[in-house]
Amino acid sequence: MKAAVYKTYGPPEVLQIENVEQPTIQEGHEDRVLIKVHASSVNPFDYYHRMGFLPIRASNGLFTPKQQIMGIDVSGRVEAIGKNVTKFKIGDRVFGSCLGSHAEYVRVREDKITLIPENLTFNEAAAVPCVALSAVQALKDVAQIKKGQKVLINGASGGIGHFSVQVARFYEAEVTAVCSTSNLSWVKELGAHHMIDYTKEDFTKNGKRYDVILDASAARTFFSCKDSLTETGFYMTENPTKPRYQLVQVLLSSVTKDKKMKGPGLTNTGGENLELIRELLEAGKIKPVIEKVYPLDQIAAAHRHVENGHTKGKVVIEVLKG
Ligand SMILES: NC(=O)c1ccc[n+]([C@@H]2O[C@H](COP(=O)([O-])OP(=O)(O)OC[C@H]3O[C@@H](n4cnc5c(N)ncnc54)[C@H](OP(=O)(O)O)[C@@H]3O)[C@@H](O)[C@H]2O)c1
Repeated sequence: MKAAVYKTYGPPEVLQIENVEQPTIQEGHEDRVLIKVHASSVNPFDYYHRMGFLPIRASNGLFTPKQQIMGIDVSGRVEAIGKNVTKFKIGDRVFGSCLGSHAEYVRVREDKITLIPENLTFNEAAAVPCVALSAVQALKDVAQIKKGQKVLINGASGGIGHFSVQVARFYEAEVTAVCSTSNLSWVKELGAHHMIDYTKEDFTKNGKRYDVILDASAARTFFSCKDSLTETGFYMTENPTKPRYQLVQVLLSSVTKDKKMKGPGLTNTGGENLELIRELLEAGKIKPVIEKVYPLDQIAAAHRHVENGHTKGKVVIEVLKG
């Protein structure tokens, strides 16, 4: 099968399309599903792996990547199932998370995927898993946002940001979305109550206070946001290592048990949050926004696009047309 492979850490050009062995369902794969992949998407997660970001090398190989096929988000059709799989049958349209998804086939645990709602295409479904799970985990599980709370999303036009706006709206928060000028109108249409153009206004200096500041872009620091929090409010970052010195702040706040800072991260990639996301998509409460679709053989261009740091919603990789 064809797959986007990287055999060494480096720039987008290290990604090559190669013929590799196709996964199968055999003994030991009783709870696994084989998916014929239709689409995937590119996340910062992918280019951090490709670049060989230091904490990633600790688990993925110091000099040579162990996991050599790129990708984590997947949508496609069930091709085969293990004998203990109960949720799916051959031919089902499914989406979810699976390492090595920039390939024609992947084998995945059944609890990491769910059925694609009827109202979504394969490309749309592939734009959802990682970023929507990050948004739900941050706002529902960690922040436990409630009706009427003032929630500010910084980086509201990115992958996590555009889902965070919609999830915060679903929980009936009063949502302020921060993005650059060209993104103001479409992000407002996602349901934000207030818009701030960060090229014209610094939200940390406008005197307003928020119960939750979710920095989806990781462009600000906890220090700079602290005075914009209500008495019981807190700041959350989607990337505690960015800017680099923020890591010290994250570590310090966990030692001092500072309740004003939380770093959610993405820890669970399936389960009940994926089911909630499926229901919200089906009900039209949330939807993915796709900036561009690249074919698999243009994977390096797709990485360059996302690495630029200004993606509008998501960049999708179409593996199988239609
Ligand atoms: N994707 C995942 O699954 C995942 C999971 C966990 C954690 N994370 C981390 O979360 C962060 C965001 O991920 P993502 O997938 O949402 O990235 P993304 O799609 O690349 O979005 C980044 C967004 O940041 C905005 N931005 C850039 N500079 C900004 C600034 N100075 N102020 C405000 N916004 C700014 C950009 O909007 P403009 O074009 O308007 O500047 C862009 O839309 C990354 O650091 C990533 O490592 C990602």
